[in-house]
Amino acid sequence: MSHNQFDNKSQAWSALFSEPMSELVKRYTASVFFDKRLWQADITGSLAHAEMLAAQGIIAATDYAAIQKGMTQIWSEIEAGAFEWKLDLEDVHLNIEARLTQLVGDAGKRLHTGRSRNDQVATDVRLWLRSEIDLIGGLLTDLQRALVDVAEQNVDVILPGFTHLQVAQPVSFAHHLLAYVEMFSRDAERFADVRRRTNRLPLGSAALAGTTYPLDRERVARTLGMVDDAGQPQVSQNSLDGVSDRDFAIEFTAAASLTMVHISRLSEELILWMSQNFAFVKIADRFTTGSSIMPQKKNPDVPELARGKTGRVVGHLMGLITLMKGQPLAYNKDNQEDKEPLFDTVDTLKDTLRIFAEMIGGQVNPATGEKSGGITVNAAAMRAAAQKGFATATDLADYLVKKGLPFRDAHETVAHAVKVASDRGVDLSELPLDVLQQFNPHIADDVYQVLSLEGSLNARNVIGGTAPVQVRQQITRHRQRLG
Ligand code: ARG
Repeated sequence: MSHNQFDNKSQAWSALFSEPMSELVKRYTASVFFDKRLWQADITGSLAHAEMLAAQGIIAATDYAAIQKGMTQIWSEIEAGAFEWKLDLEDVHLNIEARLTQLVGDAGKRLHTGRSRNDQVATDVRLWLRSEIDLIGGLLTDLQRALVDVAEQNVDVILPGFTHLQVAQPVSFAHHLLAYVEMFSRDAERFADVRRRTNRLPLGSAALAGTTYPLDRERVARTLGMVDDAGQPQVSQNSLDGVSDRDFAIEFTAAASLTMVHISRLSEELILWMSQNFAFVKIADRFTTGSSIMPQKKNPDVPELARGKTGRVVGHLMGLITLMKGQPLAYNKDNQEDKEPLFDTVDTLKDTLRIFAEMIGGQVNPATGEKSGGITVNAAAMRAAAQKGFATATDLADYLVKKGLPFRDAHETVAHAVKVASDRGVDLSELPLDVLQQFNPHIADDVYQVLSLEGSLNARNVIGGTAPVQVRQQITRHRQRLG
């Protein structure tokens, strides 16, 4: 027989229920085995609520003290793995509240005054996600730093840049890596923006309509650090929206999806670059695996998995956005389904960012100070590839334009020169001067500098261009920005 009011849910909801839930329905509706990860946010939110209730004279100071004491014990029980989570108590909120009441009696029963699980869960998820966003911000900085480190060592390393995966123009390898730094810096901006809308307090919306108690919502917001850049408390301004809004979770998952898409693009490049046909880079063995049948293989499992996991995170975005579609105001139990996709998105993204920072930049051994891991760059293979495919053909066209030809004519002239070089099996830079002059008499000896890989890079000396002097400026800018 049950001694606790929450031991059996049919009793928890009082006299209205004539029969207990079936075991299957209990399991179907319970969320405790995944939402227990919100426990810290739940306790923190409850304490802020209780502190305000006492300050407003809604509960006694002695009740607040008892709640504090009980919550301190619950905190250590959970931390120590000694807390008994009960499926019968459905979710993290009821589990903690029931234990509190068991520990401190009536004071525990007063905690839920002026509050509903609807505004409670919305608050918990926001508090939890806010701290995860902060961690993700740090991980994005680490990854950008790793890319900038490798870029700095490879400013003068030249590889073919591609369009349509066909050799297009030579670029600095550093320039190529810094393209990803741009993507990850935009991702960081997006997370910072999502954080602003996540960091708003729904508590005080109660079930849906607000509450009859004289709550000081702004006090709770201040206690929980839910303030804007100017330190002003941020509380939801409509109770119906407050309990049911999950936009922040969707926005977060959208930002995470885009970050994963960037990771996935980088993965695809690493996979190509590691293939024998490119052989541009190697990643440390600890990020690869062998084949069970082919003894020679070293497979780029980590980039491949990251590419695969991108689908999973984008899937969560689809799941969450579809979850909201068709929900009338206000709270509906559908919203309980927001947690697993959100949790898995956070876990997947954090692991991926961590692993990529190490795979790209290596890791410093704290004992020896030595760096290991990180990508190994095969500059010779990159250079050889850049010398194929007439990567400097545009440079020849630009050269002719400077000699007075209209660009379209120069383009056509170079196409003829490429045809001849291709027939002879040589690069444009390997055609003798007299042969080049047959295409245009203005071509002089200085053309060979223009046709060189270095000449091609140096010529692109414009903001955002691949000239090493520009790339070095970008590295300086990123270093200042990343601190
Ligand atoms: N476990 C629930 C959730 O995650 C908490 C809110 C329950 N509210 C309710 N009215 N049943 O959404």
